[in-house]
Amino acid sequence: MSLPFPILTAEEAAELIQNGQTIGFSGFTPAGAAKAVPFALAQKARREHEAGKPFKVGVLTGASTGKSLDGALAEAEAISFRTPYQSNSTLRKQINSGQVKFVDMHLSVLPQIARYGYLGPIHWAVVEACDITPGGGVVLSTSVGASNTYMRLADKIILELNAKHPASLLGMHDIFEPQDPPSRSEIPIFSASDRVGSPICIIDPKKIAGVVFTDLEDESGGFDEPTAVTDQIGQNVADFLVAEMKAGRIPAQFLPLQSGVGNIANAVLAALGKSKEIPAFEMYTEVLQDSVVPLLENGRCTFASTCALTLSPDAMRNVTGNIEFFRNRIIMRPQEISNHPEIVRRLGIISMNTAIEVDLGGNVNSTHVMGKTMMNGIGGSGDFTRNAYLSMFSCPSTAKGGKISAIVPLASHMDHSEHSVQIVVTEQGVADLRGKDPHERAELLINNCAHPEYRQQLRDYLHLATPSHEPLSLSLGLAMHRQFLRHGDMRQIRWEEYR
Ligand code: COA
Repeated sequence: MSLPFPILTAEEAAELIQNGQTIGFSGFTPAGAAKAVPFALAQKARREHEAGKPFKVGVLTGASTGKSLDGALAEAEAISFRTPYQSNSTLRKQINSGQVKFVDMHLSVLPQIARYGYLGPIHWAVVEACDITPGGGVVLSTSVGASNTYMRLADKIILELNAKHPASLLGMHDIFEPQDPPSRSEIPIFSASDRVGSPICIIDPKKIAGVVFTDLEDESGGFDEPTAVTDQIGQNVADFLVAEMKAGRIPAQFLPLQSGVGNIANAVLAALGKSKEIPAFEMYTEVLQDSVVPLLENGRCTFASTCALTLSPDAMRNVTGNIEFFRNRIIMRPQEISNHPEIVRRLGIISMNTAIEVDLGGNVNSTHVMGKTMMNGIGGSGDFTRNAYLSMFSCPSTAKGGKISAIVPLASHMDHSEHSVQIVVTEQGVADLRGKDPHERAELLINNCAHPEYRQQLRDYLHLATPSHEPLSLSLGLAMHRQFLRHGDMRQIRWEEYR
């Protein structure tokens, strides 16, 4: 291909990036993440460190990425600042030790925060594409994330042109960036399949510092095999939604689904696909995981609007091998649009996300283990939960072999408040918190969602809590967490030990 831009190796491109600069990378999950340049940048950082020179950069992305980006840069100790989401174990350790500054934020808000300059100047956009036109038209690859915004805001752009993703992905993206207030008007999406933008990003060709040719698969991992617990959670979600339909609270044509990330979300979606009573549905979501591909093929899912195709290599090959079929059934949007509260509320989305823990008031912690250790981040769960027609959280009733209860007196960190969380599902059952007062919520969560081994001690907590509008004991609220930290097991707590 002949392009009027400098053709660079990944190493040459990395040489252009200087210590202390901020880079907006493509990537929303490992899907569509820049790979060759960040990997080469990590090698550069190692060389600089060996020569006794400092080298760290600020890393902005759409969400989490893969091993060549977060993984390689974290291992090279080359990240000073990171936002908005991550899921890499090395980076997680550096964030939790205070080595890397991390800002955990709602994904829909990130592009606006960047536009207003809160993340400082963006020196580089490093973005993966599957095609580029000589005039500066960029066809993104397997995600949009915030790439459109980063390319517009950055001083200079480096493009990774990845031959692994066919140029025939053209037509699967819908690029739309809202104006900032007071000039913002409505985003005219009235159904999951509406198109409102351009299939390509149009950028200033003068800003392109170079194009790096690559041939690299997305680094999306697979999923754990479903277990009896995840299957039961999926079944409970499906049964609940069927009952809601029968009660007339979900229309016969169903409502668009949003589904979160991880093993549980993947299992829930697979269960919904199998349910004979749930009609074919649409998705308006931010991440499309493997379980949706067969549902699109067999017509159980009729359309999917997403920000990223987070697929294993096999599932991705299936999509690119039948691209004409999937192009009519999938749209990839910027995260500002895939997660936009206006659209989530308008479409009446059923949101299904995963909790780390849920407290007896219905508050959900999705991010911090024992209140302080960052897991991944809030991601898009808040964008959807707060604005959904029906907001659900699911999780196994226990973690770490039963030593931790997911239903706790008081959440040790709070991402989603009782005002936004409507339905909680574990393998034990479903707690429908809508229209319930704090005491009723606590009873439902204990009786329907807590593991039987924890029910009595949670009831004991309720008796010890001060009678008031919220059944809360300030001294005992976090006692089960303290018990775990002290004894390695939340079970068989002696409440008097913590008074
Ligand atoms: N205490 C301690 N650890 C806990 C825990 C708890 N209460 N609950 C879960 N965990 C641990 C699990 O043991 C597991 O640890 P491991 O990796 O060492 O095995 C890990 O958290 C993941 O849990 P798992 O049960 O496998 O669920 P998952 O893969 O579905 O991930 C979240 C669950 C909450 C971490 C994940 O969904 C997440 O990061 N969510 C926030 C962002 C989000 O919702 N984005 C989607 C918006 S579209």
